Amino acid sequence: MWPDHRLIDLLEIEHPIVLSPMAGFVTLEMAAAVCNAGGLGSIGCGPMEPAVATKTIHALRRLTDKPINVNFFCHVQATTATDREEAWRDRLSPYYRELGIDSAISVPRIDIPPFDEAKCKIVEETKPDVVSFHFGLPNSALLERVKAAGCRIMGSATTVAEARWLEMHGVDIIIAQGYEAGGHRGTFLTQTANWVSSSQPGTLALVPQVVDAVKVPVVAAGGIADGRGIAAAFALGAAGTQLGTAYLLCPEAATSEPHRDALQDADSDATFVTNVFTGRPARALSNRLALEVGPIANGLPDFPLPMGPLAPLRAKAETQGNSDFTPFWSGQASPLGREMPAGELTLKLAQEAIDRLKRLSKPRP
Ligand SMILES: Cc1cc2nc3c(=O)[nH]c(=O)nc-3n(C[C@H](O)[C@H](O)[C@H](O)COP(=O)(O)O)c2cc1C
Repeated sequence: MWPDHRLIDLLEIEHPIVLSPMAGFVTLEMAAAVCNAGGLGSIGCGPMEPAVATKTIHALRRLTDKPINVNFFCHVQATTATDREEAWRDRLSPYYRELGIDSAISVPRIDIPPFDEAKCKIVEETKPDVVSFHFGLPNSALLERVKAAGCRIMGSATTVAEARWLEMHGVDIIIAQGYEAGGHRGTFLTQTANWVSSSQPGTLALVPQVVDAVKVPVVAAGGIADGRGIAAAFALGAAGTQLGTAYLLCPEAATSEPHRDALQDADSDATFVTNVFTGRPARALSNRLALEVGPIANGLPDFPLPMGPLAPLRAKAETQGNSDFTPFWSGQASPLGREMPAGELTLKLAQEAIDRLKRLSKPRP
């Protein structure tokens, strides 16, 4: 059925469709539904406390006996930089005034530790079939322990150099994440937000270059939302696809109602890459904060510290039905999104892609 079986065979799945591990958006039910439909369901454990991550992985295991993917972040741990943190609060102070929030209130320090000893222990205990990493890889001692736990490793590359680096460090599968992708870019060999927002290659250009540069199977990600996109990824030499935005409208997704409405109203040019929500470049629907302060702001605190001073603004605005400070993550293909259960969507995507690939291989009269 599928023209390339490397991913299917390696991961023992039926369809080479990976649900993006969208932290905070993919629910257990959604990941399980994709697994049970023959795709690879993923759960985003990046921002979770270790105890929550352990519970979540065990719960997912109870919902499916198919292979599962568990995702973690490998960013550089944030360091305190008082000058940048003060400048960020100053930059936001007009919005505090506008919303009637005392700009001297104490704000939460929102930090996310990268994949570390505690998270590695979770992997060793729960032994997910696949572990995927965003923003690079953990150090080689931790990576060896993940491999020793029997997990296949996937890593995200946004350039050919990153793909080569990931292969050299032992990943089994490379996710080639193009410019179109929703959410955070996995970029890790350059930290420059300006580079990412203007020079990151698109999926169509990136995937064949990565395929030529590495021997491991490549999964195409970014802007793929139906069978046509999946078929195109195979034509480019990918052995599979990873889709995120396409699943955000599924009833099982934890996408908020205003986010769903905005995705449904979005046009093809509604998104941009911005770093103002977290300090790292990510694709979202454009909104007031990103337009006025970004889309790319210089001198921000380290990822994910900008979220702390944004939290009171976001909370207050949301109670007023205002999404000026809320990131509505989205890839460029959100207008192709369909509102249907995740299992059904996975089967539909697979069938559409297979039909399209068959049609393309038939000689035209
Ligand atoms: C809402 C949202 C959240 C995301 N969260 C994560 C995450 O936690 N970990 C990760 O590796 N990738 C994350 N991504 C990026 C995806 O892995 C993937 O690159 C992207 O969904 C592909 O592009 P698409 O959204 O156009 O399908 C996220 C993407 C979206 C849209």
